[in-house]
Amino acid sequence: MVMRSHYCGQLRAAHVGEEVQLCGWVQRRRDHGGVIFLDLRDRHGIAQVVFDPDTEESFALADRVRSEYVLKVTGRVRARPDGTVNPDMATGEIEVLGRDLELLNPSETPPFQLDAWSDAGEDVRLRFRYMDLRRPEMQQRLALRARAVSVIRRYYEAEGFIDVETPILTRATPEGARDYLVPSRTHPGEFFALPQSPQLFKQLLMIGGLDRYYQIARCFRDEDLRADRQPEFTQLDVELSFTDEDEVMALTENMLRQLFREVLAVELPAFPHLTWQEAMSRYGSDKPDLRNPLELIDVGDLMAKVEFKVFAGPAADPKGRVAALRAPGGGTLSRKVIDDYTGFVAQYGARGLAYIKINERAAGTAGLQSPILKFLPEDVVTAVLDRVGAEDGDVVFFGADTFEVVSESLGALRNKLAKDLNLMGEGFAPCWVTRFPMFETSREGQLTPLHHPFTAPACTPEELLAEPASALSRAYDVVLNGYELGGGSIRIHQEDMQRAVFEILRLGQEADARFGFLLDALHYGCPPHGGIALGIDRLVMLMADASAIRDVIAFPKTQTASCLMTSAPSAVDAHQLRDLHIRLRESAPKDGKDSA
Ligand code: AMO
Ligand code: AMP
Repeated sequence: MVMRSHYCGQLRAAHVGEEVQLCGWVQRRRDHGGVIFLDLRDRHGIAQVVFDPDTEESFALADRVRSEYVLKVTGRVRARPDGTVNPDMATGEIEVLGRDLELLNPSETPPFQLDAWSDAGEDVRLRFRYMDLRRPEMQQRLALRARAVSVIRRYYEAEGFIDVETPILTRATPEGARDYLVPSRTHPGEFFALPQSPQLFKQLLMIGGLDRYYQIARCFRDEDLRADRQPEFTQLDVELSFTDEDEVMALTENMLRQLFREVLAVELPAFPHLTWQEAMSRYGSDKPDLRNPLELIDVGDLMAKVEFKVFAGPAADPKGRVAALRAPGGGTLSRKVIDDYTGFVAQYGARGLAYIKINERAAGTAGLQSPILKFLPEDVVTAVLDRVGAEDGDVVFFGADTFEVVSESLGALRNKLAKDLNLMGEGFAPCWVTRFPMFETSREGQLTPLHHPFTAPACTPEELLAEPASALSRAYDVVLNGYELGGGSIRIHQEDMQRAVFEILRLGQEADARFGFLLDALHYGCPPHGGIALGIDRLVMLMADASAIRDVIAFPKTQTASCLMTSAPSAVDAHQLRDLHIRLRESAPKDGKDSA
């Protein structure tokens, strides 16, 4: 039997006079001099229901209901009396005069008031996530997510992509994080790994002739969590054969355009293409927020001959960098704030933060304020200020160190300054970052892949082996408002190249043990192929203007990768462990409960 005739939130003036049946939760109950008002809420919104003493039984029951009781109401829609119309409410022109009231289920006092959720800590919201999900904002976000995924599916289907599911119980798929492992009962001492991504399977699907594949794929990574990272998350995973960078980027860009148009009615601007080198040198980041107008400007050439060693050293070092960052209007920043910024850049390894405040350029050195003026010849200062376009009222910051330290520290300061000085532009600013280095050097001096080891280099195997550290890859990242939304590449499809990469990564024998199935498959006619994966959670977070991906995931985990609602992970029975051939070490903590 259908229990309701309408959703509360969908009633309008056009329904006046109709008899309706509503089902929902009590948002609020008010007693107004012998008349009881209930705000009844469902997925679509709230309707005001009125009970007067004429309907004795229902009135008595309405008097007893409390917040979050579940009710079924039968009544007639009527226009609200003059002066009581609520223009802030979608249903504010009408109310329902209740006749029958059925109590479907009472509720204990809620752990937090839904309209005062922000007072409740996130711990409480995550522990009672089902209550948090009743909030309209959460409902809208999940609905937005569903709509986004639906548009994405339609897009790829129209482009001839086939949705294929890949295994969850599998071997390690290296994407740079730790694996979640699942012990095997039938193979004592052996483990499955949950996929960090479907990377190897999608490549094998290309070898399998599927030609165009996509999947909305769950991925698992045991890594340090942040606002934009969860231990399990969802990728839009795409792979195609006989393709190149331009085609993959164009397909992705068109999808994003269609998505933003259909779901948000937003026309995305052009996607500029930046090389990794350009992104690092202009924005100090491989995921630049292009809503931010500030840019890093190299001044090393002007500093090479100065006596100030802090600048001259890195300026003369091929691995060094000296860069300036002009903050328009930053002349008002206090000494204390600049000290805080010095502490901030120190987190990125910067050993100081030199600056020049421009009070009055026309006054020459006397119009400037800076702890480094005494170390720099006047003509150098003038040349630097000219290059960065400094104007009265600005402050110019300087970083001098290795390329990485200067880029990262001033890149982070660039974002902070734009927020603090209110310079951040509105809307969505996407871009592509291309021509990444193949490898980066770990602290131990070992080369590790910047993406994953299946990314094709933009050179021959011989060139790669000769100079791996300077090799570039055929990888591309799509960036939106400072977030890495997705990444992909053209893949290696020939065994000699794949073996060259494994050799550089010093995988040697291990390569055959771990990736023998891929190396074998490369013998049997692997087509050239490439693809990309986008983080659905990050994409929806940005579309919903939420501040963490937790807010667009129905049941997310905390920063320490646990679920406060189900208390997962949890200890298991001794006999389960025995079946899995596992004995715990004495030191294993029994109860690792934590908070958000
Ligand atoms: P990558 O590792 O860059 O590439 O992942 C692709 C995108 O997935 C999202 N993402 C995450 N989202 C939430 N929580 C996480 N822990 C997390 N980790 C990654 C990001 C990221 O850009 N196989 C390759 C893709 C390819 O080469 O086709 C891959 O997984 O938005
Ligand atoms: P010092 O001579 O060390 O007192 O430094 C003079 C100024 O240069 C101070 O404002 C420091 O913050 C700044 N400074 C020192 N080292 C660096 C560096 N590596 N990059 C940028 N500024 C620096």
